[in-house]
Amino acid sequence: MGRRYSSAAAFSMAGALAACGGPQSVLRTGGVDAAQLAQLFWVMLAGAVVLWLLVNGLFLYVTRIKTRSLSRKWAEVLIIGGGIVFPTIVLGALLAYGLTMMPDQRAPGDGLRVRITGEQWWWRVEYWPEGAETPVISANELRLPAGLRSEIELTSAEVIHSFWVPGLGGKTDMFPGRPTRMSLEPTEPGSYRGQCAEFCGASHALMAMQAVVMEPAAFDAWLAKEAAPASLPEGPGRDLFFREGCGACHSLRGTEAAGAVGPDLTHLGGRSSLAAGILPMTSEALARWIADPASIKPEAHMPAYSHLSDAELASLAGWLEQLQ
Ligand code: CUA
Repeated sequence: MGRRYSSAAAFSMAGALAACGGPQSVLRTGGVDAAQLAQLFWVMLAGAVVLWLLVNGLFLYVTRIKTRSLSRKWAEVLIIGGGIVFPTIVLGALLAYGLTMMPDQRAPGDGLRVRITGEQWWWRVEYWPEGAETPVISANELRLPAGLRSEIELTSAEVIHSFWVPGLGGKTDMFPGRPTRMSLEPTEPGSYRGQCAEFCGASHALMAMQAVVMEPAAFDAWLAKEAAPASLPEGPGRDLFFREGCGACHSLRGTEAAGAVGPDLTHLGGRSSLAAGILPMTSEALARWIADPASIKPEAHMPAYSHLSDAELASLAGWLEQLQ
């Protein structure tokens, strides 16, 4: 291999490895389930490297070292042994190894259930603590306690989506009318990025979410705060929200705004991102979003409020950001 090729190979290897540590990497594992899947990946990678070396070694051997043709008997041994018996054993062992992991990935939870509904193109998130009769409703962010296994119930409103937070576990499809389930046991507090993993329409690639793993006490405090009704600051933003009819689609719990079409906004400002993980939670981004959602997320169902002046958009956005 020439020097140019070795540096090119080293460069792409470094790039590939650098990409392995990001917030949406299956190799930056933050929980029991993702660690198990990463282990499966490394075992398969090691096996693939061994097989690659074996096959290429054999190829070099018969083309460069021992070029005379094989006897019929040895050719048959090679074809049946290498083409049927060997792959059957290797793939059978791999299948058995993979299947032994399945029950753990779907083990029952320790109490908390989170029901996530895929919408076009955002996530409706409901927390059901053990014994709860009504859920704590949120959106576009998944918070989980570290060290505990939580049930994740998945469903969808119109089309098939797939729930996937690579740093926490495997992916599971979300079907309209047929609930699916998985469970997650995160161990490392921190932020992990999730992404819808099934093509679901124009804005599929813009359907992301932030998963936040918290220490159990901090999680309980957060959930209690999230369950509380909205505390509404006074101001022109508040008047605009009600005058423009935002409450027909969005809820602010404890007020007459009780729409359930779009995301619940009761504690909107407390989320780390806007528009299902694609904008930062800032008043500038909120104003841009309200003015013309479809320019940011193609075919988004929310109508544009482009008739509002820049000053009105700014005060509405600034007020929404204060809904902590
Ligand atoms: Cu939802 Cu892709």
